[in-house]
Amino acid sequence: MADAVRWGILGTGKIAKAFANALKDVPDAVLAAVASRSLDKAQAFAGEFGAAAAFGSYEELAAADGIDLVYIGTPHPQHADNALMALRAGKGVLCEKPFAMNLREAEQMVTLARSKRLFMMEAMWTRYLPAFLETKRIVESGEIGKVSQVVADFGFTASFGPEHRVFNPELGGGALLDLGIYPLSIAAALLGPVEEIKAQAVMGPTGVDVQTGFTLKHAGGGMSVCSCSFLARTPCELTVSGEKGSVRMNTMFHRAKTVTVTLEDGRSRTIDTPYLGNGYVHEVIEAQRCWREGLIESPSMKMEETLALMGVMDEIRRQIGLTYKADQAR
Ligand SMILES: NC(=O)c1ccc[n+]([C@@H]2O[C@H](COP(=O)([O-])OP(=O)(O)OC[C@H]3O[C@@H](n4cnc5c(N)ncnc54)[C@H](OP(=O)(O)O)[C@@H]3O)[C@@H](O)[C@H]2O)c1
Repeated sequence: MADAVRWGILGTGKIAKAFANALKDVPDAVLAAVASRSLDKAQAFAGEFGAAAAFGSYEELAAADGIDLVYIGTPHPQHADNALMALRAGKGVLCEKPFAMNLREAEQMVTLARSKRLFMMEAMWTRYLPAFLETKRIVESGEIGKVSQVVADFGFTASFGPEHRVFNPELGGGALLDLGIYPLSIAAALLGPVEEIKAQAVMGPTGVDVQTGFTLKHAGGGMSVCSCSFLARTPCELTVSGEKGSVRMNTMFHRAKTVTVTLEDGRSRTIDTPYLGNGYVHEVIEAQRCWREGLIESPSMKMEETLALMGVMDEIRRQIGLTYKADQAR
């Protein structure tokens, strides 16, 4: 494909595989290279997903020719260093959520991308899914009146050992950074910037939050009530409500395939909102569109918003007493 966008993937874990599968469903995307900390793993991944090149270090991929956009699928504490490396080598970046460990890291990344005029986007894939776009469209149409509340939960029972990245503080463990970012991001997209924050958490044996609840006041007077948990299999639904009714992104909201509108007179309708492939396809399409147009960020989720949400998570962590190594000043 002469004008295909050439992707490089950093990491060979669960999400890197899902992302590589998504690339197959985007006609003008090619998996140009994959990098792992181990050449064997990179080669196995390249064989499985048809990557043209395999590198045994992230540095080699960053420096390689023939790569337009680098997708970062490593644990959260690696995101900032990986992104800075790719940007310094002149590549655009699509970085998994949470974008970084804290606002300080995120600012470093954004400052470099802006100064080099390179594209960068947070891989908050839910923001590009048809279910979210339809929810936003209905809200903006005025059908449910002035919206003032979002209620959202994201929980699953994490039956992993303490060394797993979701519990391991060295790998950025904790429910807030892993799951809480989803309700936070959608709430802010629907109700506007966050102005006040109140949070509580249950901390687990490894010292990270295993369950966190937070309420937010948004600019314009809206309020959201959000929770995330590694202890409970919650319904994972998000409802935005206004004077005349509500829209629910149905179970599981972060990958909803339907949305239900319920109006004040009791009428209700459910709209099919299927997504392409495994869902990650939509963020790829958006990243490629922006990159091709020479944009340095997605107009749907600007870097300023990513930074603001990192700041909100910093404040939630301050309130629940959760710090990571990355918080120690460098
Ligand atoms: N958007 C989504 O739906 C979604 C879903 C799951 C996860 N995520 C995000 O994606 C990131 C990775 O999550 P995952 O579930 O894919 O994790 P994972 O299965 O553990 O994979 C992470 C990969 O990162 C690489 N890595 C680099 N440094 C590492 C280190 N110190 N320890 C362990 N692995 C390291 C490894 O690849 P090599 O050994 O090949 O270098 C590893 O396979 C996280 O930030 C997470 O929040 C997003």
